[in-house]
Amino acid sequence: MQLQMKRRYKQLIWLIFPILIIFIMWIKWDNWFYNPPEPFYTPSSSPDRILLTWSGDPFDSRDVTWQGDTLTKLGSLQITGKSDPKDTLLYTSTSRIIKTSGGASSFFRVGIKNLKHGESYQYRVANGANWSEWYDFKIGNSTDSSYSFIFIGDVQDSINGVSGELFHRAYASQPNAAFIMFIGDMIERPHDEYWGEWFREGGKMFRTIPVIATPGNHEYYKGLIQKLDERWMAHFSFPQNGPKNFLGRVCYWDYQNTRYISLDSNGIQSIPSALEQRSWLKSVLENTHQRWIVVMMHHPIYSTSRGRDYFYLRALFKPLFDQYNVDLVLEGHDHAYGRAAHIPNSKFKDKQGAVYVGTHASPKLYDTGFSNKMDKLATNTQMYQLLDVSGDSIRFRAYTANGTYFDGFTIHKDASGNRNVTENAPPNSDNYLMPTKSFLNKSSKKELEKYDNQMKAWENSKK
Ligand SMILES: [Fe+2]
Repeated sequence: MQLQMKRRYKQLIWLIFPILIIFIMWIKWDNWFYNPPEPFYTPSSSPDRILLTWSGDPFDSRDVTWQGDTLTKLGSLQITGKSDPKDTLLYTSTSRIIKTSGGASSFFRVGIKNLKHGESYQYRVANGANWSEWYDFKIGNSTDSSYSFIFIGDVQDSINGVSGELFHRAYASQPNAAFIMFIGDMIERPHDEYWGEWFREGGKMFRTIPVIATPGNHEYYKGLIQKLDERWMAHFSFPQNGPKNFLGRVCYWDYQNTRYISLDSNGIQSIPSALEQRSWLKSVLENTHQRWIVVMMHHPIYSTSRGRDYFYLRALFKPLFDQYNVDLVLEGHDHAYGRAAHIPNSKFKDKQGAVYVGTHASPKLYDTGFSNKMDKLATNTQMYQLLDVSGDSIRFRAYTANGTYFDGFTIHKDASGNRNVTENAPPNSDNYLMPTKSFLNKSSKKELEKYDNQMKAWENSKK
């Protein structure tokens, strides 16, 4: 009798299991697998989506990429130093055509070399005989005692969206930024129109200040195996110093006294891809002699957003961050702001762990889960961040889209490499902790009460 019961249980489990899988797949199909069709697009015959980056030495080189129609095979770039405007150099570029389901475009890339420290330059680019306007950029001095940069989280704007105002407020606050860092999900979907939106909002800023970036899930096509949009690689000319299967997106940039390391958290889709990034990271950290180490990754080690936890990333990378004394980890994805400055170093008990900051600049808003790890939290607002780096400190300031100072801290480092963090933030006001409209609409009275209790408990724990 017992044997018969056991057999029936087994049969029941075998029956329920596939039904459960089918049910989950049905619920999650759009989220996991559906790529909406890309609308038809016609690229411009004139140079479009011009972007400044660097892939070599930041103090003597710049890369410029741009886009055009498929009729033009030859791209050109003219550059002149402002101190000697008669001395003009001409570079040529062959085109690379990228076809997608909505159309095809040509992409051009030029690597400019032998630039001078402290010099200002003007450049323009051409598709065939169609020249762009002239744009300016300046090369910094490697001997300067400090530099600044702008850090922007997920943008994911809608068409004719709002991010341009935030970008330009950040730019106006720090016009001499050495670079602008993006942390993935610059676009809502891998479609030409969304790339167009991001470039339109960035405008002149992207042609004047170099961009560094890490990929996010929204630059990937969904599927059982997700694939990065080829246009990401064509727009961003980054150092080819990463692991074999992630060249150009998992990489590091050295700027003055800092090593910036980009991980592709969305590219971790299997054990081999996780191990490939991990072992590369370990070897890079082992060979890092810069004063500061900053890691950029789209998915966070400590989640800000309600119901999310990328524990596998924590297991994979945090031990290395601790072992090699990473100073700062900059993250996105959660569409709510969260800063954690008191995470212990699990390897060296007498040392402070890295400071973790997750942020975003998107009109898409998610709710916070009130993690106790976080010292500052914000929902319902977009942010931009300004960082100032010197030999003995990194100063971090976060502002809301309308320019209100929201958060700030400074990481100090003494001659022996010991760190401490001082906070300089206004108290976390309730205004930044209210649930989003979508949470209010979908939640029951009981769930809202629970939210309120969590908020109060979190606020009390921070007093
Ligand atoms: Fe994301």
